[in-house]
Amino acid sequence: MSDHSSFDTNAITLTRFLLEEGRKVNATGELTTLLNAMCTAIKAISSAVRKAGIAHLYGIAGNINVTGDQVKKLDVLSNDLVINMIKSSFTSCVLVSEENETAIIVEQESRGKYVVCFDPLDGSSNIDCLVSIGTIFSIYKKSTDDEPSEKDALQSGRNIVAAGYALYGSATMIVLSTGQGVNCFMMDPAIGEFILVERGVNIKKKGTIYSLNEGYAMYFDPAVTEYLQKKKFPEDGSAPYGARYVGSMVADVHRTLVYGGVFLYPANVKSPKGKLRLLYEVNPMAFIMEQAGGMATTGDMNVLDIQPESIHQRAPVVLGSPDDVEEYISIYQKHYK
Ligand code: F6P
Repeated sequence: MSDHSSFDTNAITLTRFLLEEGRKVNATGELTTLLNAMCTAIKAISSAVRKAGIAHLYGIAGNINVTGDQVKKLDVLSNDLVINMIKSSFTSCVLVSEENETAIIVEQESRGKYVVCFDPLDGSSNIDCLVSIGTIFSIYKKSTDDEPSEKDALQSGRNIVAAGYALYGSATMIVLSTGQGVNCFMMDPAIGEFILVERGVNIKKKGTIYSLNEGYAMYFDPAVTEYLQKKKFPEDGSAPYGARYVGSMVADVHRTLVYGGVFLYPANVKSPKGKLRLLYEVNPMAFIMEQAGGMATTGDMNVLDIQPESIHQRAPVVLGSPDDVEEYISIYQKHYK
């Protein structure tokens, strides 16, 4: 008799989860199809990430491999995978990618009602040294009957229908929200499926970790400097916060979601709008945080309320446990209001 003890014969796969959620709200199935396409792209990217060193996927785009073929860099390959999977799912009309200067307008015959903004492989400085990287995405509905254009992607984060990220870490995980909380799916490499491992994630009210690139301290504005001082020398006599910074947004945000605390990529005198991109980095992560009971602010306003003006615009962000973010907002307001 074979031993089935290590197999969950009733595991909830991502597809099963989406079908069940869709059924509850009488959905047409178009979003499920789109998310499944995204999931397939993520599986392929995960596989490419895991064998990148062997398959010569590191380094500069346009390398020639030993057999004389053109080798695509991992981020170019990831971008092509996401674009092709989404286009062929017949669910979307406008795509915004970190890798493409202008929005991609899907050919008429393949169009559907969704607009997808994504960073196919975030954390590029970490690719070649094997540190965790990720894919980030947010999905909107096209809001007008006009011919699809870049303008369709200029919607505030409040209109997000679904958002999430995949983390290619010590395991591959998809963290997803369709607006009813946050759910985590772990890749089971044995069967090539994402399995639900955590339903309804709730971030801690207050954490013990702060995360930002402190190397830029000489450029910080006084509010950030004061906030960090309070984390290191708490006035109430509590223990100081620990510092953690991977330098891959997906890894830093995921740790913040799981352990609590605060992640910051604030504006500074060198980058007056910070570094991170609103449409496919800041907004999806802000949506996930809010759905998990956390917060995301620019200091001035809630991230999800920003009205985008261009597809690659940047936005400062401080996100994580609500008490930690509130504390930042009150210091920021003291300095700037
Ligand atoms: O935007 C790309 C990215 O690699 C993010 O994943 C990460 O949070 C950030 O840049 C790191 O930037 P820096 O090197 O300035 O700390």
